Amino acid sequence: MRAHNRARWLALMPAGMAGRMVDLAGVASAERGLGTVWTQEGSEDLNVNLVRFEAGEGVGVHRNDEVDVVFVGVSGSGMVVVNEEKFSLEPGRMVYVPKGSLRATRSANGEFAYLTVHRRRGPVRLASRGGTRGLDRRTQGHRKEVERMKRHSALRKLSDDHHGGLVRARRLRRGAAGEGESPQEVARAFLQFWEKDTRPHFREEEDVLLAVYARYGGDLDTEPIQEMVADHARIRGLVMELAEEAESNTVARETLRKIGEDLEAHIRLEERRVFPLMESFLSERGLNEIGALLDTE
Ligand SMILES: [Fe+2]
Ligand SMILES: [Fe+2]
Repeated sequence: MRAHNRARWLALMPAGMAGRMVDLAGVASAERGLGTVWTQEGSEDLNVNLVRFEAGEGVGVHRNDEVDVVFVGVSGSGMVVVNEEKFSLEPGRMVYVPKGSLRATRSANGEFAYLTVHRRRGPVRLASRGGTRGLDRRTQGHRKEVERMKRHSALRKLSDDHHGGLVRARRLRRGAAGEGESPQEVARAFLQFWEKDTRPHFREEEDVLLAVYARYGGDLDTEPIQEMVADHARIRGLVMELAEEAESNTVARETLRKIGEDLEAHIRLEERRVFPLMESFLSERGLNEIGALLDTE
């Protein structure tokens, strides 16, 4: 733009309204950090983050009820899982995730970076440069969430199962609320899923995860472990009840609701407290032993 034209543009433009161009691939390759490595500062309307992960890492299963989000591939490749559907994400591709769905991301190689864009959920707080101190509260929250959701590769299979479990738990709660399918149909579908997925999953957690933890001296009396084992027994009992009700065509919404709520709370307990405990307590050797046992189960 010629100099006098540019001066006229600048004179017409309120302060702080300059457009910006960001070389996202350049930022992603220069950054060695993980999680949110760059955030667009200053927009009142948009929340824009560049997120980067090493191989096998990503954001674990979570739900966002507030905003629709688009994921745009910047470098490397990975996937975005929306409810149970997997979409591969790479440069030039976009995945749209509507609010209310369960989502997770996972890097397929060390250079996976993507941009997320959504409507800002809270008032903007202008950030200064450098460190996390200057980032707005939402960004810090997102960064924490990303860090919390990193999983050791040995626990990934169980974490992936949790994704499916959360989807099922939600269907149970919907069925209990009288939305969609009849209680009898919801119960039948869940009992199939239980036999194929959750029953063996509980067994793997007890026979492999807890056994390896105990082998290396882990405290089985600690609260999250006791709670986890009690949850397993209680949920198994509720499923017995549901199987009987389904058999006699008398499925109670209350049973569906209870299983849905208990299963969801149980998965959150494991993702937030039990798995982090395993990751911090067990050595690399112990964790790899879990991974190897789960692979051959
Ligand atoms: Fe469990
Ligand atoms: Fe589990």
